[in-house]
Amino acid sequence: MLTLNIILLFLCVTTYGLARVSMSTSNFVIPVEAKPYCPGSSDKASIFIANNVQLQSKFYGAVSPANTCTTCPNGKANYYDSAAEDEPHGTPPLEAIGSIAAVNCTNMCICDTAGDCYTPTGYDVVITFWPYCSDGKCGTYVQIRANSDSSGFVSTTTGSLTFTAGAQVAPNYDFKPFTDPSYIYAATVSCEGCVASSCRTTSS
Ligand SMILES: *[C@@H]1O[C@H](CO)[C@@H](O)[C@H](O)[C@H]1NC(C)=O
Repeated sequence: MLTLNIILLFLCVTTYGLARVSMSTSNFVIPVEAKPYCPGSSDKASIFIANNVQLQSKFYGAVSPANTCTTCPNGKANYYDSAAEDEPHGTPPLEAIGSIAAVNCTNMCICDTAGDCYTPTGYDVVITFWPYCSDGKCGTYVQIRANSDSSGFVSTTTGSLTFTAGAQVAPNYDFKPFTDPSYIYAATVSCEGCVASSCRTTSS
């Protein structure tokens, strides 16, 4: 009787084992890593902000994002409603995404939606991001302030000075509108080197 029980138990274990093997074989799945991707938006301005970035609200404000996408590593894509005004302004309502001083962000790099990246000319550079939509195109535009008109951002690929604080001011001393080519059309920002815009954000 004992022997029979042992044999039955053995059979049970064997059957269970075989069942498990066939089950795990039929359920075999190749692990797929989630694609680190945040979609663009046609009615929100967006930008990927690395975790090492701290936005300041001084002068132009720091509005809250309408949505956030966290599927990209080392940061998040924030989506913002468009500012009502089409140029930088320090009068209420304050509509900026926020500001960053290069002195507080020692390896600052901004990449645009075309994948070109830019670094500041010096620690005197302070930037402000503005969300703006016009003609069905929403984007995050970079206002540049610095001690001199010729300070701004240098291309990491060509090494040439491409965007300057001075170029954003019209002859009548008003700021030019965000859609002027003197503003970087930003896709990503980081304080620890350039983040390629594989985590695509702003519509282009
Ligand atoms: C640098 O960061 C500190 C701390 O967040 C902040 O108080 C200060 O205003 C920043 N500097 C500039 C020039 O924005």
